[in-house]
Amino acid sequence: MQNWLNWFKRGQSVSISKLPSFEDISELRGKKVLLRAGLNVPVKDGKVAEFFRIEQALPTIKYLQAEGAKVIVIGHIGRAPEESLEPVYEVLRDSVGAKWGGELSSQTALLAEGLGEGEVLLLENVRRDPREVKGDDSLSAELADLAEVYINDAFADSHRDHSSIVGIPKYLPSYFGASFIKEYTALSSALEPTKPSLFVIGGAKFETKMPLIEKFSSRYTQVFIGGALVNDVFKARGLPVGKSLTSDIDLTKSDILTKSNIILPVDVITSSPSGRRTVKPEEVREDEMIMDVGPATIEMLSPYITSASTILWNGPLGNFEQGFVDGTEGLAKSIARSQANSIVGGGDTVASINGLHLDDDFSFLSTAGGAMLTFLETGTLPAIEAVLKR
Ligand code: 3PG
Repeated sequence: MQNWLNWFKRGQSVSISKLPSFEDISELRGKKVLLRAGLNVPVKDGKVAEFFRIEQALPTIKYLQAEGAKVIVIGHIGRAPEESLEPVYEVLRDSVGAKWGGELSSQTALLAEGLGEGEVLLLENVRRDPREVKGDDSLSAELADLAEVYINDAFADSHRDHSSIVGIPKYLPSYFGASFIKEYTALSSALEPTKPSLFVIGGAKFETKMPLIEKFSSRYTQVFIGGALVNDVFKARGLPVGKSLTSDIDLTKSDILTKSNIILPVDVITSSPSGRRTVKPEEVREDEMIMDVGPATIEMLSPYITSASTILWNGPLGNFEQGFVDGTEGLAKSIARSQANSIVGGGDTVASINGLHLDDDFSFLSTAGGAMLTFLETGTLPAIEAVLKR
């Protein structure tokens, strides 16, 4: 279970504007509630392979059931429209007795109407309808017609201006669910870190993460750059990167290169046809790819982690797909031992923490990847704006 209580126990006090909450909805008994949940989970051999997001969706569903609402759950899975939420349905059937509603059709309203108090109906992947990703209002209106009230509990999807995310608040009284509010509260606290603070950013795509690195290098005491992102910094600093993954970004004029609170790996794991090596960044050969940070880097970060009051971490330090997990796992173990308010996001990073059974040792694990970055960068999300506009 996520250690939300600890987050308060560690003495973090936050002053955060209040979002309209699912608990504010009056007289839920018999009311049809359209719940946009974050159900985009990995599936392997037709079965859900990672339950974290579903676990985070359950408290709101169970609350609505206990209050006697008729719950119509919508969500998406994957990028290809043919992907199905049926594996998620199997989990929700077993955990909350959900019924399968299939694709949105002329029959869906009847199914929703026929629900008993406390019953749950899960509809098929909302992205099966091409209007969803276009943010087409006609789909929002059709979905809104199914219910009397709307709850968004899909923080991880709320950076998308899709019909089920930003359109429905135009038609229904709208609120946020338990998971969404937890995400919002924890990530808002990360925007105003208690110092000393450490921001760790990994993964790839410098273009998308550069604004965040620039912003947080002024807010956080230290910023550590790992993952493929650091290859661009090494390259701009004139260090050899061999065949490592780099982006086209030109960092030569960025103050990322010169800021004294930006810290970089002191050793890296490389891969080449002749095998793996642990070397200093200046020793990377032309035929090598940088795949992870090395053990001396985790060691180097240790004092920053021990003294930090706030640690924010997004993105793995190594190439997860190709099995370079040691840097990420080493960092996870080190942060787990710290007393900091530790907030972590990004699918691979959180999966790694869950895999090590360290989830209770972190203050907050976010379900979000891209949405976390957007929220940290802008302080809001399209879904929040859509509900507040109402
Ligand atoms: C995610 O996995 O980050 C969210 O569910 C959003 O999915 P998307 O990137 O396919 O919109």
